[in-house]
Amino acid sequence: MTDYGKLLKMAIEKLPDSYVPYSHFHCSAALLCSDGTIFQGVNIENAAYTPTICAERCAIFKAVSEGYRDFKAIAVVGCDEKVLESNEFKNHKVLPEGYGKSGPCGVCRQVMQEFCDPETFDIILGRAEDDITVYKLKELFPHAFGPADLA
Ligand code: THU
Repeated sequence: MTDYGKLLKMAIEKLPDSYVPYSHFHCSAALLCSDGTIFQGVNIENAAYTPTICAERCAIFKAVSEGYRDFKAIAVVGCDEKVLESNEFKNHKVLPEGYGKSGPCGVCRQVMQEFCDPETFDIILGRAEDDITVYKLKELFPHAFGPADLA
C-alpha cells in the first residue's frame, strides 16, 4: 500500500459526488501538492455541454485558486454508473476488473503542463489501492506546448 494507492482510493471514494446527468460517466481526481495538501475534484456537467469541467481540472483549479502552485501527483478514475452500484465499489471502494485505465483528456493534460513539471509530475491510474500504474506527465503528453515555449 503506497501513498499513491491511498490517493487513488480517495479519488475512488469521491466518485459519487460527480454531477453527470448527461454522460452518466463519473470521474474523480485527487491532486497531491508538494506540501502534502490534497485537493479533490469531480466532473461537473452542464445542460449546455461545453461548460462541463473534468475532474482533473476541477481539482487543479481548486488548488490554484487557493494559492497552491507546486504539485507532485494526481490520481484519476472514471467509470460508468453501474460501477457505483457494484459490490466492489459499495463494499470495498475498488473498481471492478477492467476499470481504472482511462487517462486524462487532452485538455486536462494541457492544464497539467501549465502548472506541473512534466519530468516529475506523476499521473496515477488504477482500480484499487494496491493496483495502480504511475505515469510521468511527459509520457502521456510528449512534445507538449507549454509555458517554456513562450519564455
Ligand atoms: N471527463 C473527465 O472528468 N476527465 C477526463 O479526463 C475525461 C472526461 C468527464 C467529462 C464528461 O463529464 C465525462 O467525463 C464524459 O466525457
